[in-house]
Amino acid sequence: MERKTVISAYAKINTYLEVVGKREDGYHELHSHMQLITLSDTLTITTDDTQPFSLLLRCDRPEVPTGEDNLILRAARALFARYPMRRLPRIEIDLEKKIPMQGGLAGGSTDAAATLIALRDLLYPAVTEEALCTIAATIGADVPFCIRGRRGAQSARGIGEILERAPELDARLTLVLVSPGTAVSTPAAFRALDAQADVCRMQDAEARFSAMLEAVGSGELSRIERASFNCFEEVIFSMQPRVGQVFAQMRARGADMTRMSGSGPTIVGYFENAEAARRCADAFCESGFDAYLASPLCAAADH
Ligand code: C5P
Repeated sequence: MERKTVISAYAKINTYLEVVGKREDGYHELHSHMQLITLSDTLTITTDDTQPFSLLLRCDRPEVPTGEDNLILRAARALFARYPMRRLPRIEIDLEKKIPMQGGLAGGSTDAAATLIALRDLLYPAVTEEALCTIAATIGADVPFCIRGRRGAQSARGIGEILERAPELDARLTLVLVSPGTAVSTPAAFRALDAQADVCRMQDAEARFSAMLEAVGSGELSRIERASFNCFEEVIFSMQPRVGQVFAQMRARGADMTRMSGSGPTIVGYFENAEAARRCADAFCESGFDAYLASPLCAAADH
């Protein structure tokens, strides 16, 4: 029998990101506030249990690699390895890609997370979310968040895998996401940060993170703006000046708050006024940038 399931894979933004330590295995410990947003990829998964097992990924964008290195296939293989089945069906995954790649929006991680959820629902209904998150952590540091975050914003500690429900951004905010047209490799961004780590900031890291979570809880964007932070901004702006220019333009074009997401380079403008956000996105598009409108996803919404 053929079965088909369609699932959205949502992009994430970091409203706060600070590296607070480095582990012996080279991974960095962080403080982060993350929320999924309405910008999403779509995965259509078709299984056919009358056919022998095979696993195939197709994507509507030719520049997306669809080989075994794609996090979607790595996630599927990890799930099958953890829960071996006597007979797996034929599985075809069609990916409709909207989230910019290597943009700091967890595009690959969220596709992997959606794959785990959809395949669990189709093939392993008894597997818990916690068990899925354990597999997710072996795929990438952001993948557990991309599962948990569907229930609402989270604070992250450890290397990003210690998650806790956190206050969330208002779903009525309009976000303008601008891709400066460059790509940032996450390991390269961490290496650059290591080269210019600022130890002085570490002393009150806990206090600043708590202040950020309280600010988000207050719902006041001006307060969130003052408390929010991304330790990668300066590093990336000096590696890629164009990213810093987009940041400055976002402010000049009326954003109530501007932050880079993750290790970049996507710049996010936060607007209380949807019309002002649309004008800002149009202005970026007119000057040749890819700009996207989105809103924060909130716990109450059903996704
Ligand atoms: O886990 P993921 O594959 O997304 O991470 C990509 C790279 O980013 C890692 O190989 C590591 O260099 C760096 N990283 C890190 N600390 C984290 C997350 C990622 O150093 N907490």
